[in-house]
Amino acid sequence: MQQEYKMMSESEVTVSELMKPANSNFSGKIHGGYILGLMDQIAYASAAKYSNAYCVTASVNRVNFCYPVSVGDLLTLKARINYAGSSSMVIGMRVESENLKTGAINHCNSSYFTMVAVDENGKPTKVPGLILKDQEDVRRFAKSVKRQALTKERDREFSQEDFTIQPYLEQLKDYNVMIDVPLQ
Ligand SMILES: CC(C)(COP(=O)(O)OP(=O)(O)OC[C@H]1O[C@@H](n2cnc3c(N)ncnc32)[C@H](O)[C@@H]1OP(=O)(O)O)[C@@H](O)C(=O)NCCC(=O)NCCS
Repeated sequence: MQQEYKMMSESEVTVSELMKPANSNFSGKIHGGYILGLMDQIAYASAAKYSNAYCVTASVNRVNFCYPVSVGDLLTLKARINYAGSSSMVIGMRVESENLKTGAINHCNSSYFTMVAVDENGKPTKVPGLILKDQEDVRRFAKSVKRQALTKERDREFSQEDFTIQPYLEQLKDYNVMIDVPLQ
């Protein structure tokens, strides 16, 4: 079968939702967990739209909550694919809140969701390749490749088999710890 290719724009999903008191904490700010749930749904929609397959969330990379969302704000979540592997897709997400009284728009959150397309037996299935159309597409794809390489490197360095304590004993002295490890 011939390899199918698609453009990043074919994965775009934008959803807006009014923030209600039921999802807020005692100070009128929206729970981070609620926002994460919305982000997971939009990441699913973007990945399923791109792959035309059922998808599951495999991992979420770095979620910074950089601005609090208030009750009454209009939250807008924008998602699009950044990377396509064999069965995995990295969906980049940007979340903004709009204060409807003042019109002020704030960037609340950005994140990267890795979604995997699966078949009816839950096994990973192939997704279309990406057509990179401009410098921004290449930047996003290359950034995902780099992020994956750094994650692999960190996992390897800190795996129980490969981890060596010695270099860290000195380095961690500058941190808020008391090192009480018996000398070997
Ligand atoms: C995600 C899942 C389908 C992967 O299955 P698997 O048998 O480990 O499959 P593989 O090892 O062949 O990996 C398949 C792809 O997923 C990627 N992947 C697997 N685990 C991953 C992780 N934790 N983070 C990022 N990517 C991951 C692999 O890199 C691979 O990518 P590629 O096909 O583009 O090269 C499986 O681990 C799963 O079902 N997890 C539970 C998902 C879930 O319940 N999510 C919450 C509810 S939606």
